[in-house]
Amino acid sequence: MRKTYNGLVASDDVTCRFRKGKVTVILGGSGSGKSTLMRQVVGLEKPDSGTVHFGDRELTSLSRAELYEYRKKMGMLFQASALFNSLDVFENIAFPLREHTKLADQVIRTMVKMKLELVGLRGVEGLMPSQLSGGMLKRIGLARAIIMDPEVVFYDEPTSGLDPISAGVIDKLIVDLNEILGVTSVVVSHDIESSFKIADWIMILFFGKKIAEGTPEEIQSSEDPRVQQFIKGSPEGPIPFTRTDKDFYEDILIP
Ligand SMILES: Nc1ncnc2c1ncn2[C@@H]1O[C@H](COP(=O)(O)OP(=O)(O)O)[C@@H](O)[C@H]1O
Ligand SMILES: [Mg+2]
Repeated sequence: MRKTYNGLVASDDVTCRFRKGKVTVILGGSGSGKSTLMRQVVGLEKPDSGTVHFGDRELTSLSRAELYEYRKKMGMLFQASALFNSLDVFENIAFPLREHTKLADQVIRTMVKMKLELVGLRGVEGLMPSQLSGGMLKRIGLARAIIMDPEVVFYDEPTSGLDPISAGVIDKLIVDLNEILGVTSVVVSHDIESSFKIADWIMILFFGKKIAEGTPEEIQSSEDPRVQQFIKGSPEGPIPFTRTDKDFYEDILIP
């Protein structure tokens, strides 16, 4: 699919497949189009061209009502957790249930408690977001993302801004939840080490284009100098580090 903003190509004819039940990591530097790609896949933004398939449905042809139904199957953990600061933890996690269902309060209580346990938290229902650490905010955001029992869970840079231990906890949670809930997981990340730990499949984006994909082993042993430079985080090599250099480097991209 392709998406441009005022002439800037944010998604440059990217084709991607997310294998059912697996963890796919979309890896790329800042501004490489990871979030843009994710927003198109979940139907928050419409591609300029291209299609998104889920089962036998095609997203861009869905009506508003159908799109609304589709989104219920997608759980999303946003980059900034996107919790409501004026609501306590319980109401934050319960929010999608209140919006989409008519479940009784007691049922909602049980469901929230269950999801909190799944993300490794207990007894925090009454706390406000301002009382929580970054790692806890992510876990609350995650409990909310899975409250509707989605088929696919999307994570936008789930470990960015966290200390290494909290980041490790989130990485483990992603893998564990993928297994326990039997969901398909799509993780957007610029964290190379964490990506190699959690991924079944890695896609590397660069200036909106997909430059490589494969299993972690395949990416690790890739002979593509761009891939090697990227995973070693080396400033020397074929990849320029600012977007303004792009025109000079068009030829290193896969058409
Ligand atoms: N809503 C928007 N309006 C204009 N430009 C945008 C918008 N969203 C993203 N972009 C631009 O598209 C490019 C890709 O952005 P993004 O998908 O957020 O990258 P990433 O998530 O990999 O950091 C960036 O150059 C960014 O500035
Ligand atoms: Mg982003």
